[in-house]
Amino acid sequence: MAPVLPKRRRTGAESPAGAATSGAPLPARFPGVAIYLAEPRMGRSRRAFLTRLARSKGFRVLDEYSSEVTHVVKEQTAAGEAVCWQEHMEPTAPSGCAVSALLNMSWFTESMAAGHPVPVECRHRLEVAKPRKETPSLAWMPPYACQRATLLTHHNSMLSDALETLAEAAGFEGSEGRLLSFRRAASVLKALPGPVIAMKQLQGLPHFGKHASRVIQEMLEHGVCEEVERVRCSERYQTMKLFTQIFGVGVKTADRWYREGLRTLDDLLKKNQKLTQQQKAGLQHHQDLSIPVQRQEAEALQRVVEAIVVQTLPGATVTLTGGFRRGKLQGHDVDLLITHPQEGQEAGLLPRVVGCLKNQGLILYHLHQHNHYGDITHLALQNSTMDSFERSFCIVRLLQPPGITRGAAQRPWKAVRVDLVVTPISQFPFALLGWTGSKHFERDLRWFSKKEKGLWLNSHALFDPKQETFFHLTSEEEIFRQLGLEYIPPEQRNA
Ligand code: UTP
Ligand code: MN
Repeated sequence: MAPVLPKRRRTGAESPAGAATSGAPLPARFPGVAIYLAEPRMGRSRRAFLTRLARSKGFRVLDEYSSEVTHVVKEQTAAGEAVCWQEHMEPTAPSGCAVSALLNMSWFTESMAAGHPVPVECRHRLEVAKPRKETPSLAWMPPYACQRATLLTHHNSMLSDALETLAEAAGFEGSEGRLLSFRRAASVLKALPGPVIAMKQLQGLPHFGKHASRVIQEMLEHGVCEEVERVRCSERYQTMKLFTQIFGVGVKTADRWYREGLRTLDDLLKKNQKLTQQQKAGLQHHQDLSIPVQRQEAEALQRVVEAIVVQTLPGATVTLTGGFRRGKLQGHDVDLLITHPQEGQEAGLLPRVVGCLKNQGLILYHLHQHNHYGDITHLALQNSTMDSFERSFCIVRLLQPPGITRGAAQRPWKAVRVDLVVTPISQFPFALLGWTGSKHFERDLRWFSKKEKGLWLNSHALFDPKQETFFHLTSEEEIFRQLGLEYIPPEQRNA
């Protein structure tokens, strides 16, 4: 029997990475054992590799946590999160059912080496440094998004989407406070180590007010929340969403148009004479701009811009920031940050770069914004949403390789929104941090700096208002360290 099984299993082991988590697993040899590899500190590729390995040896590995799981395996470095995990999951186990064991990698590696699940011993258990009975709350979560890892994919999308819809709707009504409280609650859900399936699990979590809790309760009980559905279907929400997605249109303008009785893009073109050039361009290219930009397209655009930038100013660099830097596969635009290692060299670069793009016929629209950081104190006072970099808001013609036909248009190009932002090297780490997002992560980071550290952070600088001094920092890591925060890499900033 031995020669047969390994051969069959080897096919599984050598299948492409994707198959590790999605392909049909082989029949399990150890029916009483179902492993769940908890990802947060493990990384996706390591998890995929370990999954393949275990399956090739006949172990059953589940992609999702469920009550079937008997062995949860985590890296020991994730012990802190384990508290959260364990207490989150236990209430969900049916009574009388054994709760899954929370283990470190040693149990996994020993079992792989032995070719069968080894008995669980003390040393295999994840060390969780806390007496369980002393913590009444069901979970622990630091209050600021910049204090925790938030990955792109998480376990509570339905719930967080519902709260984000309400946040967005509150934003449309100018209710900044409500917007923030829904966003904060949504962001906590995104950072949880497992799915919320009972209200009890929310106890002790920050930012769950009455309203957000009520929404979650309804979703858990009925699968939908009436208020959320009502908002989503409302003319007001749908129109505001449509209008604010137009390039150059903010909430105030969208609201004015709504109050004037405008409802559709056609209405804007026919009934409204007062469109800015930017809005006209936005409407003209609306169809293309509402198709998400793919990562490959963003990278292609980066290369196009980079070639021109380097030719114009040798040594200058172009960094892809925004959602793509956080690992997103799609985005609504392409955010490019341009700098040069020698302070001052970047001056005058942007108009020349845009000029070259224009000469190549690639600019469909652009709006140039001069920098206004001449006065240094101005830098410290800049608020979070506005920054003072020299910048070009563009709509660019992205040429597409032959073979890609796009809908009815059938043309070899696509209009894409690109932001070109130029920063002096001394401000680069702040600009990079600020432009990487997510918006909520940035908001909490600035809020944390101010409230907890008494320091003012924006995309230009970190300022100490008591000493009236700026910190000289040369990387994102140094900024986190200066703020007393553990470094959070870009792909964990999806708050
Ligand atoms: P985006 O709005 O492009 O968000 O701003 P995103 O995360 O990349 O989302 P998609 O994928 O395009 O939809 C990127 C970051 O740049 C900051 C935002 O706060 C966000 O964190 N930003 C944007 C500024 O700092 N200033 C601006 O004027 C615009
Ligand atoms: Mn973006």
